[in-house]
Amino acid sequence: MTEQSGVAVLGATGSIGTSALDVVRLHRDRYKVVSLTGWRRIAALEPLLKEFAPAQIAAESESVSVIDVTVLDSCKGSRYLGGEEGLIAAATHPDVDTVIAGVSGAAGLGSTLAAVEAGKRVLIANKEPLVMCGQLVRNAALGSGACLMPIDSEHNAIFQCLPLELQQDVTSGRGIGSRSAGAGVSRITLTASGGPFLRASAAAIANATPAQALAHPTWNMGPKISVDSATLMNKGLELIEACNLFGLDESQIDIIIHPQSVLHSMVAFNDGSLIGQMGNPDMRIPISYGLAYPERASSGIEALDLVEIGQLGFERPDLERFPSLVLAREAAKSGRSVPIALNAANEIAVEAFLETRIRFYEIPQVVDRILQIHEPSEVSDLAHVVEIDLAVRALAREMVQRGLSS
Ligand SMILES: NC(=O)c1ccc[n+]([C@@H]2O[C@H](COP(=O)([O-])OP(=O)(O)OC[C@H]3O[C@@H](n4cnc5c(N)ncnc54)[C@H](OP(=O)(O)O)[C@@H]3O)[C@@H](O)[C@H]2O)c1
Repeated sequence: MTEQSGVAVLGATGSIGTSALDVVRLHRDRYKVVSLTGWRRIAALEPLLKEFAPAQIAAESESVSVIDVTVLDSCKGSRYLGGEEGLIAAATHPDVDTVIAGVSGAAGLGSTLAAVEAGKRVLIANKEPLVMCGQLVRNAALGSGACLMPIDSEHNAIFQCLPLELQQDVTSGRGIGSRSAGAGVSRITLTASGGPFLRASAAAIANATPAQALAHPTWNMGPKISVDSATLMNKGLELIEACNLFGLDESQIDIIIHPQSVLHSMVAFNDGSLIGQMGNPDMRIPISYGLAYPERASSGIEALDLVEIGQLGFERPDLERFPSLVLAREAAKSGRSVPIALNAANEIAVEAFLETRIRFYEIPQVVDRILQIHEPSEVSDLAHVVEIDLAVRALAREMVQRGLSS
């Protein structure tokens, strides 16, 4: 019998967490859930606690206290802790080998970094920490011997297409920048579905409602990333994520629209070959890949039927209707603290849009204004990252409250 690997699922009540636990259920002989974290949706967390009886549980401090006592009785011996402290305890529990980082937004930064510092194998779906301070995450991996495994579908696709020696450069935290040319890699292409407004006019996009923005045509995801997919900021964040994770310059990375979302990204080689990874748009595939690597195990998802799909389309993104892409590329070019500012401003603007406090087209406007006033600085450590993030959030909140016309 194979030894079970201990797994922590951070963000277990979310879209990534749900997909991760589906894969774990398929392979109970291989994986044992050691830690589970939710945040506010305790009703969604409780059945998972009953099912997996994890050793470590975490949720928002105020929410932890409302977990039903009968549920806690059913997982005797579990430790539960609230807030960031709980997330970190879940990520660094001694019985955890693999951490699935599926918290949404910058809130996952501390626990993702703690998992890396603790030398875990870290499956990173939560792209924001890599956007904010990918270099710190990579340095931490180099120091601890952690294994970094991208499971954001595009970055996982690129990882799958790389030769083995470059895959090892990614997992170790070295990055592929210095060795990619020697290994024949010339460029990387990220694909984007184009989101729900791919064919919408600028006027229709300007008046988009939260419900329209949340209706993604090909992927089923949490609210923040769904809105990011509608503005195309998600692809912009992924551009920065790719630069920071792989150690590449933004000029080496292209973005193209591919509405069917079955070719998840590609690597171009200097002999003219283009190698891509294809699959149904379902996060259980990259999660299963990350869990089983270097082996492959069933994800529960069928292989693609290309004949059924029929035609695949590719086109360049429209930078006029989707200015977030331009803003993100500028932030990637500027580097230093600029991606932290971009990410923080975007999170505040998306939250305000979902609460109908600003219009859809004002999301990139908030980000643009913040980038215009942000003074870039070198980023030294986690405390510095958090300080910049909090300062920008306060500024963006104030901007939203005052109204963008003032
Ligand atoms: N969904 C996808 O298909 C997909 C694909 C690629 C990458 N990603 C990335 O994966 C991450 C998660 O996305 P998602 O779509 O799974 O999001 P989601 O469905 O909104 O789930 C977010 C999870 O994080 C928890 N959470 C929310 N706020 C938190 C906080 N302040 N502290 C700790 N935990 C908190 C939520 O708990 P409660 O619900 O209990 O409040 C939930 O478990 C994002 O960074 C996203 O960009 C997602």
